[in-house]
Amino acid sequence: MNNYSEKFEKMRIAGKLAANTLDMITEYIKPGISTEKIDTLCFEYIRDNGGYSAPLFYRGYTKSVCTSLNHVICHGIPSDRTLVEGDILNIDITAVVNDFYGDTSRMYVIPDISVKAKNLIDTTYESLINSIKILKPGIKLGDIGYEIQSYVEKKGFSVVRDFCGHGISNVFHEPPNILHYGNKNTGKELEPGMTFTIEPMINAGKFESKVLNDGWTAVTKDKSLSAQFEHTVGITENGYEIFTESDKHIQSPCIK
Ligand code: MF3
Ligand code: CO
Ligand code: CO
Repeated sequence: MNNYSEKFEKMRIAGKLAANTLDMITEYIKPGISTEKIDTLCFEYIRDNGGYSAPLFYRGYTKSVCTSLNHVICHGIPSDRTLVEGDILNIDITAVVNDFYGDTSRMYVIPDISVKAKNLIDTTYESLINSIKILKPGIKLGDIGYEIQSYVEKKGFSVVRDFCGHGISNVFHEPPNILHYGNKNTGKELEPGMTFTIEPMINAGKFESKVLNDGWTAVTKDKSLSAQFEHTVGITENGYEIFTESDKHIQSPCIK
C-alpha cells in the first residue's frame, strides 16, 4: 500500500472503460458510418458501463467524443460526415467513473490508405510507446518531449506544438502540461503517484495548426495529414502503469 493506491485503482477503472470503448467501436469503422453515429455508440457504451462521457458539455462542447479525420489534428466534432475509403480517423474517448478520468485515443483507417498515411500512424504510435517506456521517478518532463520529437523528426514528420498532454485524476485537465517536444533533462521531475496523459499529435507536413470557426476543430495549416494516439499513465515507485489498456489489449486496429 502507498498513498496513491486508491487513486490508481480509480484511474484503472476509468481508463479501462475508455479503452474498452475504443475496442467496442472498432467493428463499426466501415465506409458509410457517420462520425455522429460513432459518437452515439460511444456515449451509450460508456453510460451502459457505469460511466459518463467527460467531453459532453465540457467548456461548451456538445458531443461525447472527438472524431478527428485526415488533416484534423484534434477536437474534431462528430457530424453527419460519413467515412470513405482512404480516411484516417482518430477517436478520442474520455470516460469519468466515480469522479476519476480515463483519457485515450487511437487511429482507425478505411483501407486502402497511402503508404505515407500508414507510416505516419505507425510512427505516431511508436513515439507514444517509446516515451511511455522511459517513464520512472527521477526523469524529467523534457525527457518525454525529447523522446517523441527526436523519433518523429527522424522519420520526417513534425510534432504539433499548440496542444499537449495534461495531468489528469479527479480533474479532466490539470497541471502539468506534457509537451510532446523538448530537451533532455529539463522541466519538472517525475514523482511516484503522478498521473497524466501523453497524446502526441504528429503531422505529415509542417507542425503549424489553426482552429476553425467552430472554436474546436484544430487542423494542420498546410492541410497535411495528422495522427494521434493517447494513453493515461501513472508513475509508480520504479516505473509506470498504463491505465488505458483495454481488456482485449488492442493497441490499434491498424497496427500489427
Ligand atoms: N480528450 C481530449 C484530450 O485528450 C479533450 C477533449 S475536450 C473536448 O485532452 F471538449 F474537446 F472534448
Ligand atoms: Co483525449
Ligand atoms: Co487528453
